[in-house]
Amino acid sequence: MAVRVEGVGKLYRIGELHHGAHRTLKEAVSERLLGRGRAALLAAEESRALWALRDVSFEVARGEALGIVGRNGSGKSTLLKILARVTHPTEGRAEFRGRVAALLEVGTGFHPELTGRENVFLNGAILGMSRGDIQRRFDEIVAFAEVERFLDTPVKHYSSGMYVRLAFSVAAHLEPDILIADEVLAVGDLGFIGKCTERMTAAVREGTTLIFVSHNPYLIRTLCSRAIYLDHGRIIDSGAAGAVVEHYLADVGGDPNAGAPPEAVLASES
Ligand SMILES: Nc1ncnc2c1ncn2[C@@H]1O[C@H](COP(=O)(O)OP(=O)(O)OP(=O)(O)O)[C@@H](O)[C@H]1O
Ligand SMILES: [Mg+2]
Repeated sequence: MAVRVEGVGKLYRIGELHHGAHRTLKEAVSERLLGRGRAALLAAEESRALWALRDVSFEVARGEALGIVGRNGSGKSTLLKILARVTHPTEGRAEFRGRVAALLEVGTGFHPELTGRENVFLNGAILGMSRGDIQRRFDEIVAFAEVERFLDTPVKHYSSGMYVRLAFSVAAHLEPDILIADEVLAVGDLGFIGKCTERMTAAVREGTTLIFVSHNPYLIRTLCSRAIYLDHGRIIDSGAAGAVVEHYLADVGGDPNAGAPPEAVLASES
């Protein structure tokens, strides 16, 4: 078993930090604009508790690829953040065996002030690689990402796509046991998406466990054997990726061919 999630719940209390002695600027301004009564109502509304995840349990075997689908706000990123140890679950447990590489939303993982080159080494070290290991794979990482020209530029000046290219390339080349990816290909161009898909398929074939969140039904079906469907923080369906994606698309009225390259659409229609 590579990943085991047992009864995981995550409670967010929005606005919780604002109830101390210090008023925030936003609170002060809204009081002035709206009057004390409405401002207090707004603040109360904001401090409501929200279970972003509830009673979530599943297992992923070594070398298995699990897709996660669900509407905006259904808890997908929260789940991946718990797996990546970026945040703690309020209840339940998430355990895994092996080295995890997590590609979370753009903006996490890389240090904005550091250059592409420095970030490759930093990320490699976080993943537990030695300097020598990273050095040996460095050229391959940069070639795959196609960002040679910008290697010595701080990543805060990268375009979203360039950023994701480098982040994906580092994660994929450092041979993690478990690769966690949150919607990372959404900003990649078509050429890069194709390359990443091939790379992930090869990694899974070689025993990497993949947990993949995407709004692209084609990618989920292509990459994953199994999927879970989250709705308001709970798993409402799980099973073969094709069937789960179909269920989700039926609920949201989505196009089953969305995100597919033209040749795949032609093949599915013939
Ligand atoms: N740090 C936070 N503080 C408070 N609430 C949060 C926080 N992070 C997420 N949430 C809330 O938790 C819920 C789940 O959010 P999450 O980001 O996991 O959704 P998602 O399924 O990844 O959505 P999307 O498809 O838009 O990426 C949302 O209602 C969101 O507002
Ligand atoms: Mg998300």
